Amino acid sequence: MTQNLAATSRPDAAPTAQDGAASRDWWRSAVIYQVYPRSFADSNGDGMGDLPGVRSRLPYLRDLGVDAVWLSPFYASPQADAGYDVADYRAVDPMFGSLLDADGLIRDAHELGMRIIVDLVPNHSSDQHEWFQRALREGPGSALRERYHFRAGKGTEGELPPNDWESIFGGPAWTRSHNPDGTPGEWYLHLFAPEQPDFNWDSPAVADEFRSILRFWLDMGVDGFRIDVAHGMVKAPGLPDIGGSEQLKLLGNDVMPFFDQDGVHEIYRSWRKILDEYPGQRIGVAEAWTPTVQRTANYVRPDELHQAFNFQYLGTHWEAGALREVIDLSLDSMRPVDAPTTWVLSNHDVTRHATRFANPPGGTQIRTAGDRELGLRRARAATLLMLALPGSAYLYQGEELGLPDVTDLPDEVRQDPSFFRASGQDGFRDGCRVPLPWSGTEAPYGFGPVAGGPSWLPQPAEWAALSVESQTGDPTSTLELYRSALAVRREHPALGGGTGVTWLDAPEGVLAFRRESAEGSFVCYANTGAEPVRVAAPGRVLLASGDEPVVDGGETVLAPDCTSWWAV
Ligand code: NOJ
Repeated sequence: MTQNLAATSRPDAAPTAQDGAASRDWWRSAVIYQVYPRSFADSNGDGMGDLPGVRSRLPYLRDLGVDAVWLSPFYASPQADAGYDVADYRAVDPMFGSLLDADGLIRDAHELGMRIIVDLVPNHSSDQHEWFQRALREGPGSALRERYHFRAGKGTEGELPPNDWESIFGGPAWTRSHNPDGTPGEWYLHLFAPEQPDFNWDSPAVADEFRSILRFWLDMGVDGFRIDVAHGMVKAPGLPDIGGSEQLKLLGNDVMPFFDQDGVHEIYRSWRKILDEYPGQRIGVAEAWTPTVQRTANYVRPDELHQAFNFQYLGTHWEAGALREVIDLSLDSMRPVDAPTTWVLSNHDVTRHATRFANPPGGTQIRTAGDRELGLRRARAATLLMLALPGSAYLYQGEELGLPDVTDLPDEVRQDPSFFRASGQDGFRDGCRVPLPWSGTEAPYGFGPVAGGPSWLPQPAEWAALSVESQTGDPTSTLELYRSALAVRREHPALGGGTGVTWLDAPEGVLAFRRESAEGSFVCYANTGAEPVRVAAPGRVLLASGDEPVVDGGETVLAPDCTSWWAV
């Protein structure tokens, strides 16, 4: 493979309207669609999505109107954490296809004018990774052990873990290994499942290896990397105890000795140099859970990564006051580092927003279906609000179909490792990972090639009515709303990138803001309340998440849980 593999058809050649002269900075305004390969499209009928399946559906994504596709991991992996446990960073797992399929997918996406972002998992590998297996085989003192965190245990016989850290998936963050002769040996650190040992980023071999992996995929033609646990690689010196119980509650609220340590930024500075060596603006996107948006901004300083997920926004309920606060905070914190603000409502780790908003505020892991109609109405309104904000937006596969979370999956089909580690009290992420319905009246609804064929998680019977086929051409469908919204966003000169909004006076429960451009201005109204509200009509309606507002005598009524876009 050569560096120019896919470079000839790189989408720089076809700047989008909203990019205009600034197509150089495509990532400042891009709409990026997350594909979860296991659940997107299954080409060979084994019940598991794959890369040829994704490739065959690229025209659907082009027609939807997205600028880039982020693929969750498809690398060789025993799938202890759905591919976030990588055994070989340069190989495609046979269940997803081959490197040739990845090459074809990248080329096809570029031909269609879309970019490809792949997932990079640098905090931990799989326990089946060659380095870890050799480290186990060679025993204490092996140089390979320095690439992970192996430590002697505490207690008279080394029977206690080296410190008190807890795994994010529940239970201790340490597992005791066995010596080559079968006796109990050193412990190793895993912030996630025991099958995901953490790398030791103080080891030069680890840093070298990841620089080489970056180049491998850049040479394959990818346009960027979503960096998994981007805040996790560096641990506080000496691996100090945290103290106290319920550590998981501190996550994201406090600086932890294993998260958001200042040393991680050195890694991103070295990666940025590599990204910048390649043509076509290749980017890095941080999955960084930090205590504040200000600390998140550190990851996107000019010599580090390009974007960071805005989880504070994702965690905000459908309520005008809270939304306005988080929008201002997000824009204000990115401005000093000159990075685009990003917006996201759903991904493969959280309850889909159609279900979150169907329930009373309760965080990002919801286990009840709630009021589905209300949830969908709000989800549609929340999407139009998000797509009107300045910056780059992330969509998660299936949200364009208005899919709810599947809250009633039987325990025996679940695969989320944290469900098992937390004894069924947590780890309900399978609910947002159910395979997509594409067409037909019988499961797997076109996800696989054969009606009645398998899917790795069962789809609810109601999903026939939510399939791409059922929604296409229906002007009231969520799919057509997304298509229209992305088309308007692409065309309207005031939409897309930018760094601020002008808030307008609005009644309680309503968000109203204006965005300006030399060629025309734009107003967004979002009524998060339960009552209709009368306001001045700012111009001509472009799009609405519910019934189109009627303008009468210069005024209009905003329906509850509805967002409308206006050309001024
Ligand atoms: C974040 C990923 O999004 C999640 O799915 C995974 O379980 C953890 N990182 C560990 O890699």
